[in-house]
Amino acid sequence: MTEDEGPRGRIPCAAGRLPPLGHLVPLLTRPVPFLQSLADYGPVVRIHLWRRPVHVLTTPELVHRLLVQDAPKTEKGFVFDKARGLLGNGLFTSEGAFHLRQRRLVQPAFHLDSIRGYAALAARQAATAVSRWEPGRPVPIAERMHAVSRDIVVESLFATHLSDAQKARINRSVPVVLTGFVRRALYPSALLEKLPVPANRRFDSAVRELRAVVDEIVAQGVRRQGPEGMLPALLLAARDEETGLAMEAAQVRDEAVSLLLAGIETTATALSWLFHELAEHPGLQEELSEEVRTVAADGAVPWSDLPRLERTGHALSETLRLHTPNWILMRRAVAPLRYADAHLPPGTEILFSPTALHRSPRLFPDPLRFDPDRWRQPGDHASRRLFLPFGAGHHKCVGESFAWTEMLIVAATVLARWRLRPASPGGLREAAGSATLRPRGPQLIAEPR
Ligand code: HEM
Repeated sequence: MTEDEGPRGRIPCAAGRLPPLGHLVPLLTRPVPFLQSLADYGPVVRIHLWRRPVHVLTTPELVHRLLVQDAPKTEKGFVFDKARGLLGNGLFTSEGAFHLRQRRLVQPAFHLDSIRGYAALAARQAATAVSRWEPGRPVPIAERMHAVSRDIVVESLFATHLSDAQKARINRSVPVVLTGFVRRALYPSALLEKLPVPANRRFDSAVRELRAVVDEIVAQGVRRQGPEGMLPALLLAARDEETGLAMEAAQVRDEAVSLLLAGIETTATALSWLFHELAEHPGLQEELSEEVRTVAADGAVPWSDLPRLERTGHALSETLRLHTPNWILMRRAVAPLRYADAHLPPGTEILFSPTALHRSPRLFPDPLRFDPDRWRQPGDHASRRLFLPFGAGHHKCVGESFAWTEMLIVAATVLARWRLRPASPGGLREAAGSATLRPRGPQLIAEPR
């Protein structure tokens, strides 16, 4: 371990830096154990991605300060600089006053009244999707959850149905875009993006395909004139406070791209992990199925009854703790910051891992055990600000209530109708290299109840 003793204060550098890659190998090959190991160095530790120094915060207190109190002194950082150039300046990538204004415009689409409307639609989508599962046959759960999340987000927010060709284009483009923008941010030089190699060509064409299909979705939503409060209506009715001008078509598209990218993969990943865990824990699966069927025999739980799915909610919280979809979040200092003994000047790139915090034995005893009982007394975790699957502060997930509603509805629909078991023995692994950590392991077999 080396240590800076200069004007930045005492900042340890993690062992294993390998020129010219820095710490890229452990970060990409065993991301969560590597990020967890950084807590041993102290609350702030330096790693290198190629030659770029990045400062990692390892305690929930500092992370909370970064996201909440210090929010005005930060921007989103180098990964998002790259994402903005590639994917546009929607909520997911924008910053400062512009972000705040756009957030105010988008937020009404996520008010509870709107979400109540989406719930009925999500229940219909989920019922149709799971009715097509074949008894005794393996279910590619990640793919199925991706499809159902896609259809729920598009139909709820954009008031439109997708054609089969549009579904195929979203399925093709979203995973490539999400993997590619992280990879591109890690290229040591922007020149590499221009090389005519297959990975670059695939990524460029996925971005073009996603933009084109989003333009179609927005246009369809506008034509169908969804109810007020739905996104196309909101975005098109929005007027700039100073100029009175309408939002440009390119900005409407950027917002739509942001919502699709942020809203499909995260929820799909969380649901996939939930079903894998339940397949591994048959007793718990039976308990949750019983809970669901007590509330609604066919699993079609109305919005007003979702709070009665208390144990299903515990299992989802535990899934978001142990398998937090967004495994890394980043910021960059735009004003001097001081964390513990570390002085971080403007321009410092800062990173933290919600997953590493959620798996810390200092914060959650026996952290790798999937144990929904931890959530019987959730106030404890909340008051200690230990649970951050949706982030915190200005950029906290705008879709949190939407996601909870969707996840509970999809979980209830599956649990009422199907019993899941792993197709073969063999542990679950997590696949890194993308914006989310996805499950890799045996497929699941679904038997009707
Ligand atoms: C389990 C599901 C989800 C998880 C775990 C999740 C997680 C997160 C996290 C951690 C952030 C903060 C990023 C940061 O601070 O840099 C975020 C932001 C965001 N999420 Fe989600 N999300 C989920 C579902 C959704 C859904 C369903 C939507 C929309 C349909 C959505 C839309 C967004 C948007 C637009 C942002 C950017 C917000 C801003 O910067 O103002 N998310 N999400």
